[in-house]
Amino acid sequence: LSQQEYIGFDSIRNISSVLNQFAAKRIFLVTGTSSYYISGAHNLLKEYLSGHNVTRYCEFSSNPKIEDVIRGIGCFKSAGCDAIIAVGGGSVIDMAKLVTIFAENNINPVEYIKKPPKKVKRNLPIAAIPTTAGSGSEATGFAVLYIDKKKYSIENSSLVPDVAIIDPGLMISLPKYLTAVTGMDALCQAVESYWSVNSNEESKAFAAESIRLIKANIVQVVNTPDTISRQAMAEAAHLSGKAINITRTTAPHAISYPLTSYFGIPHGHAAALTLPAMLEYMAGVNDKDLLDARGCRYVRNNLTEICCLFGSKEIIETKKKIEDIIKAVGLETRLSRLGITSEKDIQTVIDNGFDPDRVKNNPRRLTREALREILESIN
Ligand SMILES: [Fe+2]
Repeated sequence: LSQQEYIGFDSIRNISSVLNQFAAKRIFLVTGTSSYYISGAHNLLKEYLSGHNVTRYCEFSSNPKIEDVIRGIGCFKSAGCDAIIAVGGGSVIDMAKLVTIFAENNINPVEYIKKPPKKVKRNLPIAAIPTTAGSGSEATGFAVLYIDKKKYSIENSSLVPDVAIIDPGLMISLPKYLTAVTGMDALCQAVESYWSVNSNEESKAFAAESIRLIKANIVQVVNTPDTISRQAMAEAAHLSGKAINITRTTAPHAISYPLTSYFGIPHGHAAALTLPAMLEYMAGVNDKDLLDARGCRYVRNNLTEICCLFGSKEIIETKKKIEDIIKAVGLETRLSRLGITSEKDIQTVIDNGFDPDRVKNNPRRLTREALREILESIN
């Protein structure tokens, strides 16, 4: 079943008809602690929520941790809700998806990870309202969960929210740094989706449009935001979510997880760090390390298409363009300046950056030696 989408300024008002359609009486509202107010969501939603019994869950940190999910499940169960609304960034939307699925199926998250059940049901409807233009979580059947610094990706089509409301008005107040890191997350997702071994015509169309929009708007939205660039980035992030929902992400995302959990680098920044070098690495694909069944020529063609989307003809120039974007949005590009200073630190990233489910989506096999070279090139 396809998702209902509302996109554009003021689209948050559609929550009124959505709540009618859900026939919701008791709402489980998952939000950020302060972003819910700062984004303006609280003010806009209160008239629509006033006739409902609302239980708000917001006491958790970013990058959902198991303790927070378990607490959320308890809260969810005692509230006895009949619909879920998530308002926030990727972590908030992931949290809402996780709590709902574990509570409804009465399964402990650790048990789920050990042995994912064959059948997962979800009867209660979820509406997701992002307040950042980044993860695209409102469009995906994935949710990230951390247990003791280790990242797990929960994947299930029943995690895709029934409704996504993408209102760039909620993103106007996003600070510069958050705008930059979330925008870079969307860019990484779109590029990784484009070169993923799982890509198809549909995912490539989503990813291409996402890349086009981000290339044209990210520097503007970070440095001199206006309504046009906010709207473009909101759409682009949603499209990147739709793209990775088909293809999943690849190496830059795999490597981002230890950079986030061990060194505290925000997700989008962490993914962006290796994206330029990874593009160059992908271009060296050969018959021995090819992972895409469609062949080396197909992969190289894909990479050329990515270059075109960046308005460039060849790999090194595109690599430079992506590096320039990262710098222009004010993000550090060197690991050594982000707290990854020793050989031991690099080893931590290598030891934990090989999420097999992500790396296998790369068109070119990534070896530990190659990853070390990439990390050293940005040290
Ligand atoms: Fe991401």
